[in-house]
Amino acid sequence: MAPTNQAAWLKEVNQKLEIRPSEIGKPGKDEILVRNHAIAMNPIDWMQQYGAYPPGPLPRILGNDIAGEIVEVGEGVTQFKKGQRILGHCTALNTDEPKHGSFQEYSVAPAFGCAEIPDNMKYEDACVLPLAISTAALGLFHKDQLGLDLPGAEQKGSLGSSEAVLVWGGSSSVGTAAIQLAVAAGYTVLTTSSPRNFSLCKSLGASEVFDHSSLSIVGDLTEALQKYEFAGALDAISTRDTQLNVAQVLAQLGGGKIALTLPATQEIPATVNVNMIIAVFILTQDKALGKAIYNDFLPDALKSGRIKPAPTADVVGHGVEHIQAAVDKLKAGVSGSKIVVTL
Ligand SMILES: NC(=O)c1ccc[n+]([C@@H]2O[C@H](COP(=O)([O-])OP(=O)(O)OC[C@H]3O[C@@H](n4cnc5c(N)ncnc54)[C@H](OP(=O)(O)O)[C@@H]3O)[C@@H](O)[C@H]2O)c1
Repeated sequence: MAPTNQAAWLKEVNQKLEIRPSEIGKPGKDEILVRNHAIAMNPIDWMQQYGAYPPGPLPRILGNDIAGEIVEVGEGVTQFKKGQRILGHCTALNTDEPKHGSFQEYSVAPAFGCAEIPDNMKYEDACVLPLAISTAALGLFHKDQLGLDLPGAEQKGSLGSSEAVLVWGGSSSVGTAAIQLAVAAGYTVLTTSSPRNFSLCKSLGASEVFDHSSLSIVGDLTEALQKYEFAGALDAISTRDTQLNVAQVLAQLGGGKIALTLPATQEIPATVNVNMIIAVFILTQDKALGKAIYNDFLPDALKSGRIKPAPTADVVGHGVEHIQAAVDKLKAGVSGSKIVVTL
């Protein structure tokens, strides 16, 4: 019997996702078709469903993060073959094409945004990474963002490195990816989280973790960062308050760059340079960076444990009919976990 594809469709903003069949997508040039076995939720999913941000044509299939098995490769794909287990960053947010959404059993993903995963890694763990990795990698390594050195094949020796990066929001999805990528690239990482997530941040390589709700946070971070050469900050949370805290730290250090995950507030001091990350640019505008991270770095880094699936997967159900509950659970708020549906 020919395979079928069930998908969770958004027909109207502010309405529940509707489960109905969708065509199985055909992979185009530099794309692969994947049978998804696990998908992860991201804040942009509920923002799109409930806030119409960013606006786009309807009906549509939302979702960014997949892990599964390759079913078919498109023209020009030489780095993958049918049957491989991969994680991938789907790009429907950018293309508006249903085949590029992750909220379905079969998705089409760009080969430069996919990485082979180790045999012993569960799909539900692997799927927590892609969008967070793209976001953190763009913020840390893109020349228009912090422009840091890329991680090489070997660990450069992170603890004790004289150059430090500040990651605000180390227990978030983007923050956990940023800690790991910056450490892999040889930087010392200082980060913030709630005390209950200090051990998570440390386990990923952060040298020091600070309570983000402490009244002395700006002074504490400034004092700690003064011991290093400052390489820049990634604010994974980027609310007005976090931006102003990070900007105050940088102003006291004499200036620097902040990579933001949300639009900048107006009140940033002039010595501080802020720039918003658009994660999908790693697969559209700077494919070389996408390839360097996903195809060249991640497969070995996942095998060796230099990059671990984080935050911890919280599997809410099996089957596309659980996606709506998963979106709603993320919208209600998470702390050091990633909401996942297995398929
Ligand atoms: N621009 C882009 O391309 C792009 C891409 C991906 C995501 N984003 C955006 O980036 C943001 C983060 O996404 P995500 O998926 O990483 O979020 P997430 O994992 O859902 O974030 C939850 C975490 O945020 C932490 N947090 C909340 N308020 C905090 C604060 N004031 N200081 C420090 N940590 C705080 C919590 O830490 P504790 O529980 O430890 O307090 C919690 O662990 C979202 O706004 C998302 O829309 C943007």
